[in-house]
Amino acid sequence: MVKNSEADVTAAGPAETLVGMLDAIDTMPAAAALRARSYELLGTGSPIADVGCGPGRAVAELNERGRRAIGVDMNPEMIAIARRRWPDADFRTGDAGALPFEDGEVAGYRAEKVFHEIGDPARALEEARRVLTPGGHVVLIGQDWDALVIDSADPALTRTIVHARADLVPSPRAARGYRNLLRDAGFEDVHAEAHIGVFTGELMLPLLAGLARAVHESGVITRKQRDAWIAEQADRARFDRLFLAFPVFLAFGRRP
Ligand SMILES: C[S@@+](CC[C@H](N)C(=O)[O-])C[C@H]1O[C@@H](n2cnc3c(N)ncnc32)[C@H](O)[C@@H]1O
Repeated sequence: MVKNSEADVTAAGPAETLVGMLDAIDTMPAAAALRARSYELLGTGSPIADVGCGPGRAVAELNERGRRAIGVDMNPEMIAIARRRWPDADFRTGDAGALPFEDGEVAGYRAEKVFHEIGDPARALEEARRVLTPGGHVVLIGQDWDALVIDSADPALTRTIVHARADLVPSPRAARGYRNLLRDAGFEDVHAEAHIGVFTGELMLPLLAGLARAVHESGVITRKQRDAWIAEQADRARFDRLFLAFPVFLAFGRRP
């Protein structure tokens, strides 16, 4: 259950753990370049809604660029963290399916690493369209959870882990569907870009171990398989042999 007070976030909880992982990824130069690309595509209008803003980095960066940005996240713990980090910025608790904006109130809509967590992405885009002003821009960014490329001595087990972990995500292939989702929602000038995230070293070891643990908990692999696979990845990290890559899709659309 999501806790609903600022005091609750003083102890490291699930949100703090996710924030640690996001910080590690989002401070990488390639991630910063992708965010900069999204800001460019959002055009020059304000305000911009960053939906599923998490700890608020994009909101702060847009504000630094002289744009008025508003971060929205359904998790009050995340909103509390974002407010602590960027006290001058505007953060609101809200759901992508029922945003805290009037019709046509925002000039830009941005959602990064969010749509895979939403069970009904088409509904979220209906809501994006409602809150966007005519001519407003939407930019979606996200990884495809069913297309993780992981080097391993056991490719069959790795394939099982990747696909079974993807099945635990509400919309694991939302990112490959961005273009069609935007077109189906009536957006114009839609285009999609693919960027590749490549990770080596120890940074992503907790994420890889988390994949195997989740798949074991869901009963798809045995404890022995889980432990052997994590041990192999830990060895790879130790000897600089770890390799994880995945496509990150960015898609743009304009509200008619
Ligand atoms: C993986 S984090 C990404 C955070 C941030 N956008 C980033 O790129 O670092 C996903 C965020 O989306 C939020 N989220 C998930 N489903 C949501 C929904 N339906 N409405 C609003 N926020 C949502 C989560 O609470 C979480 O903070």
